[in-house]
Amino acid sequence: MTNATTEPHLFVILGGRGDLMHRKLLPALYRLYRRGLFPAGCCFLGAGRGESTDEEFQEYARGSLAEAGFTMTPDAVRWCNESIFYQAIGGDDGYRKLADRIQALEQARDLPGNRIFYLALPPSVFPASIEGLGETGLNQSAGWTRLVIEKPFGRDLSTAEELNRLVHRYFAEEQVYRIDHYLGKETVQNLLVFRFANALTEPIWNRERVERVEITVAESLGIEDRSGYYEKAGAMRDMIQNHLAQLLTLTAMEVPGAFEADAIRNEKVKALRAVTPLQPDAVVFGQYTAGEMGGKPAAGYRDEAGVAPDSETESYVAIRLEVNNWRWQGVPFILRTGKRLPRRTSQIVVTFRRPPVALFAEFRGESVEPNRLVITIQPDEGFDLSFEVKAPEEPYRLETQYLRFRYADVHTGLPDAYETLLLDVMNGDATLFVRADEVEAAWHLFSPLLENRPKVYPYAAGTWGPKEADELLGGDGPWATR
Ligand code: BG6
Repeated sequence: MTNATTEPHLFVILGGRGDLMHRKLLPALYRLYRRGLFPAGCCFLGAGRGESTDEEFQEYARGSLAEAGFTMTPDAVRWCNESIFYQAIGGDDGYRKLADRIQALEQARDLPGNRIFYLALPPSVFPASIEGLGETGLNQSAGWTRLVIEKPFGRDLSTAEELNRLVHRYFAEEQVYRIDHYLGKETVQNLLVFRFANALTEPIWNRERVERVEITVAESLGIEDRSGYYEKAGAMRDMIQNHLAQLLTLTAMEVPGAFEADAIRNEKVKALRAVTPLQPDAVVFGQYTAGEMGGKPAAGYRDEAGVAPDSETESYVAIRLEVNNWRWQGVPFILRTGKRLPRRTSQIVVTFRRPPVALFAEFRGESVEPNRLVITIQPDEGFDLSFEVKAPEEPYRLETQYLRFRYADVHTGLPDAYETLLLDVMNGDATLFVRADEVEAAWHLFSPLLENRPKVYPYAAGTWGPKEADELLGGDGPWATR
């Protein structure tokens, strides 16, 4: 989000040999390097409990780039070999060794002491890592120090509060960057621009004009090889508390006083706090059973490797909620996400109220179609605004047509969310990161559903979720599925 110039720094990734580093961080860092965004001297230090030499780690980095589809040009090889290093931090003095290595690298590369620590780790080891950094004095330096924490941040409200307390024991909130990669997506950021840079949007973005809002993140993938994590998380922790909550806040928030991190985050927190407590009868949990995906048989959730045969983990959630403020009172907001749904699509659908007088009812059957704005976050990023037109010739007939915008029609390729977010951390722009009070407000809203879990209904893989959700979602189901 920022255009500022990056200052020389050392980028430390705890969990250096982990999946996130391999699949996302290394390719994103390399793309930023290719854009010329690292000043001279910047380097990357992977850290982990396992032993590895710098050379082995550089080979690992080259493998990650090759897997991400980059050609291993001499420049790519040089980048890996000259700016990527590894430090093992197993044992009692692991963080001491890390501190020594950081100092040595900073000296050798003439760096001013600006540091980023990225916790690309399983959440169970966040506390030990934060303590390790803090107790070794790595929370402060001669320059700036920033701490990046991956999701999920806590398992519920009390664990999130506890983690925030621990973080704040060593780091000021301004140093902390809680990641939600949805905020790094161009189309998610575009929500702010679409809403606040267009004079047409805001006057109709309220209860007077909007009938309902549906936010859907549908995935066709199952849980892949992540049963260990997913069994304990479920869709509530994996998607709703973070990604869908973020889409909700950006859709529902008030106009911020300024385009800056805290002004925006203040409004997001207010929107979350305005949501009325969730009602059990406005929530449906589901779990996929065996079905068919793209004409091929697909296993049920309980048959996935590592899943308990009687697991009650939800792979689908639909929630109807209300944002109880002057702008939105009475407008249903529907959040819906699930795995093994028929196709991958993330959309925000705003359905506007119909005209107050049904002047054309006789030409359109039972009633005129409402105008709809469909914001597609992925894939096929863009939006469609539907409106009614007269079909040519007689008899008099109305039909629905669309104003359509697609990023792909005007731009080649969108940056990866991690690329955007890493650059923002490097430049100290926290706008796209989740503040402590925001993460707690989201847990405050959703934790009750984790304590009093609704019944989990089955749905066949390759369908749009349990039939029990249909009524909740509004008669013939959400528009996004069409
Ligand atoms: C992750 C979840 O945070 O987001 C995954 O852990 C999910 O389960 C993924 O598949 C979805 O992200 P995207 O960017 O593919 O929509």
